Amino acid sequence: MTNKERFLSICRDDIKRDGIEDLLRWLEDSDFFTAPASTRFHGNYEGGLCEHSLNVHRELTRLNDIYQLGYSKETIAVTALFHDLCKVNYYKRGTRNIKDENGNWIVKDIYEVDEKLPLGHGEKSCLIIQKYFPLSMDEVLAIRWHMGGFDAAAKGGDYGLSKAQDMSKLVTLISVADLIASNLFEETKK
Ligand SMILES: [Fe+2]
Ligand SMILES: [Fe+2]
Repeated sequence: MTNKERFLSICRDDIKRDGIEDLLRWLEDSDFFTAPASTRFHGNYEGGLCEHSLNVHRELTRLNDIYQLGYSKETIAVTALFHDLCKVNYYKRGTRNIKDENGNWIVKDIYEVDEKLPLGHGEKSCLIIQKYFPLSMDEVLAIRWHMGGFDAAAKGGDYGLSKAQDMSKLVTLISVADLIASNLFEETKK
């Protein structure tokens, strides 16, 4: 099974909300299944974003089981698989001149950010998903704050993260799953 097939089958098995098929159609028409997960860090290669979303789904499922938090399969799938939809249609291909091991200049293919809808990171994912179906309070808080302490607003002194963590354990869970997925299981191509 390819990552795309695995992603679509989890969505169709576990998410029973009106609007899910419209969201999946939008994803299929976008670059979601070929996009990287970043330009310079984890998953900076074709298909990295879908792979990362599946890894976060696996880790979030594990954490939910280990700590017996009782979140439904549907909430785990929506939160994990769609937390980074802000990165859909967000990267473009480019080139950079670099020196190879012999000191000769070569042209390297890279990805660059090309933000067309600047609505934040987690915030943007929530806004996109809610064009198709409503999110529960746990889901919206978790997706909004999935970057944990790396979130730009949190780094800038916003206290919303700790309040969100008090309101829903899923906030802590998704940020840990996101870190484990990217730092332990995903490569960075030099
Ligand atoms: Fe993210
Ligand atoms: Fe992520």
